[in-house]
Amino acid sequence: NQSKNGEGNPKDHQLEPFRVENEGTKMTTNQGLRVSNDEDSLKAGVRGPTIMEDFHLREKITHFDHERIPERVVHARGFAAHGEFELYESMSEYTKAKFLQDPKKKTPVFVRFSTVVGSLGSMDTARDVRGFATKFYTDEGNYDLVGNNIPVFFIQDAIKFPDLIHAVKPEPHNEMPQAASAHDTFWDFVASNQEIAHMIMWVMSDRAIPRSFRMMEGFGVHTFRFVNDKGRSRFVKFHWKPVLGVHSLVWDEAQIIAGKDPDFQRRDLWEAIEIGDYPEFELGIQILEPEDEFKFDFDILDATKLWPEELVPVKKIGKMTLNRNVDNVFAETEQVAFHPGNVVPGIDFTNDPLLQGRLFSYLDTQLIRLGGPNFAEIPINRPICPVHNNQRNGFSRQTINLGRVSYHKNSLANNTPATSTAREGGYVHYEEKVEGRITRARSKSFNDHFSQARLFWNSMSPPEKQHIIDAFSFEVGKVKSKSVRQQVVDMFVHVDKEMATTVADNVGVNRPNGEQSKVTASSPALSQANTVKLPYT
Ligand code: HEM
Repeated sequence: NQSKNGEGNPKDHQLEPFRVENEGTKMTTNQGLRVSNDEDSLKAGVRGPTIMEDFHLREKITHFDHERIPERVVHARGFAAHGEFELYESMSEYTKAKFLQDPKKKTPVFVRFSTVVGSLGSMDTARDVRGFATKFYTDEGNYDLVGNNIPVFFIQDAIKFPDLIHAVKPEPHNEMPQAASAHDTFWDFVASNQEIAHMIMWVMSDRAIPRSFRMMEGFGVHTFRFVNDKGRSRFVKFHWKPVLGVHSLVWDEAQIIAGKDPDFQRRDLWEAIEIGDYPEFELGIQILEPEDEFKFDFDILDATKLWPEELVPVKKIGKMTLNRNVDNVFAETEQVAFHPGNVVPGIDFTNDPLLQGRLFSYLDTQLIRLGGPNFAEIPINRPICPVHNNQRNGFSRQTINLGRVSYHKNSLANNTPATSTAREGGYVHYEEKVEGRITRARSKSFNDHFSQARLFWNSMSPPEKQHIIDAFSFEVGKVKSKSVRQQVVDMFVHVDKEMATTVADNVGVNRPNGEQSKVTASSPALSQANTVKLPYT
């Protein structure tokens, strides 16, 4: 019973007035005029022509003509649910974020899971990264943890993001392939941007074909900051741990399911919630003292690196339960706007150059995706605390702002919104010391691209290693350019020689040391590049 689950949930209460039940009602136009006939347009004589005067026909068709909005430029295909987050113990030592103080406190959440590459109508079980975006509706404003199911990322600097996405999306001349990394531009990008190595190991692993949204981890990826009420800052990484454990499909299953039920993962989430088998995820944090910033052989600002859990253990601090399906996918799942820049006091950013670019990108893209500057007024995006500022007007403004003064600092009104001190809950950015010369140069501490990729490979069991080799062979085997296939093999020898050698044989290029491949250009994996047979189908 959905409304029962939402009972006492302040976000649910906020959404209630926007819900419209049509059953048992009389049809009207958008002006509230009752409609007498919804099947025949107004005509001059029974055989036409149709006349302009038919306002009902025009309104109905015009609205339909404008029903689509642009899909997200990435993470277009997603599915979402409501829930709540409960804290296990106070985090006041580390952060002043109010929703992380009181273990009795329940915070409403909205979570959207997604694939990255495929379009809105693509299949759920593609080999891809999964998005795991959580909006916490806190009493201090919305906090968005916009993460993925893989703890590292493809690139180190946001300036490369458009290039990455242009390479990974279907190729522009023929819009193929949909939701697959098995194509030339993707692997060309990989070989030309070697910081990607660690992420590719994860993407070729079973992690990229999760069994269910309920059975995958989530990661904030970047290093963020916690700041406590004494102003002390520590570095933090965020994790979601599924209570059901981490489970994946095997590739053959993923492909068969893609054909039989492209909605497999959204159906799984929807049905689990409908029967009351609520998905649960524990929130974990890794905390690093500021004096330990340079203690590792990697840079904590580099998003292609994780903090090994043996070195920095994950502390579980709370649990999120997803207990209510959406009422309307467009209104909620499609119109929700996540943004890593939506923070609350006690949570702050670092200088991770990937994060810094994201802080610009999300608001910018949502301005066009959601039709202008008022998308924060869309019900799913509204914070549960009051909103007051001097922003006015714009397309589809909902708020009726009273008074004639809409500017800060004035002498005509004494009731315009006032700013708050930090004690009163005003957001004050952490006063990090910065120094250096303006430059586009990259820090040398970002230069090691293979150590953690090797660490990942070495942590795999033999069947997991075989799955990675199979995935490389299938994906790279579909690349038409022999030069690109060769470059990929030559690159991944830096992760593991045996792995790269086996892949070389399977995709019909020279082994990484220049030795002739054991498999010739007529090998099955190659000659049937687009209709490959087992074992790489
Ligand atoms: C969605 C940009 C890196 C996770 C998006 C969207 C953009 C974007 C433009 C579409 C947002 C919308 O239309 O509402 C970028 C840029 C990145 C970057 C520029 C790097 C420079 C990342 C990383 C993560 C991530 C590192 C994970 C930690 C997500 C998720 C969504 C998303 C989960 C989907 C949100 C939803 O469900 O609505 N990203 N992204 N992105 N991004 Fe990123």
